[in-house]
Amino acid sequence: MNSRLIESDSPYLDPLVAATYHAITASAQFAYPARELVRQLAVARGARALDVGCGTGVVRDALAQAIGSGHVVGIDPSIAMLRAGSSNGALVAGTVPRLPFDRGVFDIVAASFVLSHVADPDAALADMARVCKVNGRIGITAWGTLPNPVGAVWKEIAATVASADELGSAFRRVIPSEDRLASGEGLQDLFGAAGLGLISIAALEYTISLSLEDFVTVKAASLERTLLRVMFDANGWTRFTRDVTEALRRRFGSRIEYVRDFSVATGTRTAD
Ligand SMILES: C[S@@+](CC[C@H](N)C(=O)[O-])C[C@H]1O[C@@H](n2cnc3c(N)ncnc32)[C@H](O)[C@@H]1O
Repeated sequence: MNSRLIESDSPYLDPLVAATYHAITASAQFAYPARELVRQLAVARGARALDVGCGTGVVRDALAQAIGSGHVVGIDPSIAMLRAGSSNGALVAGTVPRLPFDRGVFDIVAASFVLSHVADPDAALADMARVCKVNGRIGITAWGTLPNPVGAVWKEIAATVASADELGSAFRRVIPSEDRLASGEGLQDLFGAAGLGLISIAALEYTISLSLEDFVTVKAASLERTLLRVMFDANGWTRFTRDVTEALRRRFGSRIEYVRDFSVATGTRTAD
């Protein structure tokens, strides 16, 4: 694991988190936005594409389907995520900013739910623009602000061991730019500052549907788990998981369904 590349409390460095992400989280939460991102980027067959923060590969897979696997490169700082995921495309360990590619190499540069993890998203988007060809396309996704009643139940129970402020500030340490990217204005501002021609911002919603067991497994392999881990011994964590599972079953039954909103912002590199 190369913890030099990424905040050491990033959950994605943990092979168990990466395995759960690949087995459950990616298809339940990230595959639909990935397909939308690739659709809105209108990639041409044979284009060269870079998937920044590729994780276990949902965007790589959608890109490979649109243009052919041999034309796709995925980069992520977590070796665990790269190892756990799909085999589509060439894989590189590294971060944005500081992408290890020359200027103007790719026709398409995508990053799905990644720039929120970066302290300086302006520098990140400018670096994505640097490696993109003139007239090439750059696209990102970011979560919106719809309230999440399921997450709220989990947070209510978590608040019995850590205050909302403590959890909020720990969350912002690992995902520092989520708030800025959650609005259309924030995204417009980001693309403008990188000197990109903005093509569009699409605000979309979809329903996430998981069995209660899978939802709890996903939460147990999430950032929140990483943040709470320090506050529990093994028994405490087992008790916490049981309390959350019971509260969720009482409120939602054995299937967890909720609507999430996200934006797809696409732009083009207009000049050298
Ligand atoms: C929420 S996951 C999204 C993964 C994938 N794009 C998807 O849609 O499933 C965030 C990913 O960003 C990666 N990441 C975090 N900081 C990064 C950085 N500075 N540069 C590139 N990737 C980063 C993490 O390792 C993780 O794989």
